[in-house]
Amino acid sequence: MRAILIDRFGGPDVMHMAEVPVPAIDADDVLIRVVCASANPADWKCREGWLNKLGHFHGSLPHVLGFDAAGTVEKVGANVKDFRPGQRVYTFCNQGTGRWGSYAEFVAATQATVAPMPDALGFAEAAAIPTAGLTAWQGLFDVGGTKAGDKVLVHGGAGGVGSYGIQFARMAGAEVATTCGTANVDYVRGLGAARAIDYRTEDVAAAVQAWAPGGVDVLLDSIGLNTLPGAIDMVRPGGALVNVATLADIAGPDAERAKKRGIRMIDFAGKRRDLAQEDMIQIAAAHADGRVRPPAIRVFPLEQIAEVHRLLEAGHVRGKLVLQVA
Ligand SMILES: NC(=O)c1ccc[n+]([C@@H]2O[C@H](COP(=O)([O-])OP(=O)(O)OC[C@H]3O[C@@H](n4cnc5c(N)ncnc54)[C@H](OP(=O)(O)O)[C@@H]3O)[C@@H](O)[C@H]2O)c1
Repeated sequence: MRAILIDRFGGPDVMHMAEVPVPAIDADDVLIRVVCASANPADWKCREGWLNKLGHFHGSLPHVLGFDAAGTVEKVGANVKDFRPGQRVYTFCNQGTGRWGSYAEFVAATQATVAPMPDALGFAEAAAIPTAGLTAWQGLFDVGGTKAGDKVLVHGGAGGVGSYGIQFARMAGAEVATTCGTANVDYVRGLGAARAIDYRTEDVAAAVQAWAPGGVDVLLDSIGLNTLPGAIDMVRPGGALVNVATLADIAGPDAERAKKRGIRMIDFAGKRRDLAQEDMIQIAAAHADGRVRPPAIRVFPLEQIAEVHRLLEAGHVRGKLVLQVA
């Protein structure tokens, strides 16, 4: 099969197209013929060797990157009863555990990371969901406890995690404010943000204070890197501050101070695999009945992967970047 391979860690140019064997499958695996994969910031961090250094990535080289894919089931392992060949599915696969990822014509994924694709969606829209969508879903609900009537601040509303985060929080009946740059103000409003705070022209802390004088109930920070100074003071006592792990070696908000203010601060380091399939089924249902719509998506041929990584590294992608594999 064709796949984008890395033989060493480094810049975008270490990725190259190669002919490699189709992955073997275990009893609990689904082999998926990939139509679209999506790219995430974690991919370039993995390519640079960051995840490896931090012990989050247990792969050996050569390696195929890519967490997310949508496609059709090619074959299933002996223990797999819920999927059948030809079925349209999507997955966040097992790349972080050392298995080869989705920048390839085929990917093997443990069945617990696979869910049926919503009929309403095409492959590009489904491939956009897993990593960003699950991070937003689990960060807001499974970890953050977002509920109807809450005031939720999504830091970084125009990105992959943020585009889903705004919509999921709204869907749950919360009111949402979000931060973004000037060029994305209309975009995040279109996703349902009641208040778009332009971090380039506004005093973010003052804007949050005016919008939620007592503090927000849940703050989902998808940007980190100290880009939201005073985050602890934006959350009401008893509220939750969910920090999505960016893996950069930069200290986050002061955990002791958060505790003293009675704020539940959670460093959300990754998707909960035990909840993934159930959460993906719910996310699919939300797309199917129109409560959620796909974020802005730009599709690139797999061959343009280096350009996709450069865009991700620059840090201002709107929505999601998707790779057309087949
Ligand atoms: N640990 C995990 O499991 C996990 C899972 C998913 C994501 N993550 C991490 O979470 C982060 C976000 O992921 P993602 O997929 O959402 O990334 P992304 O789509 O690449 O995020 C890009 C967005 O960030 C916004 N942004 C940049 N600087 C900002 C700032 N100072 N304030 C507000 N918005 C800002 C940009 O909007 P503007 O152009 O308007 O600035 C852009 O739309 C990444 O570091 C990723 O690695 C971790």
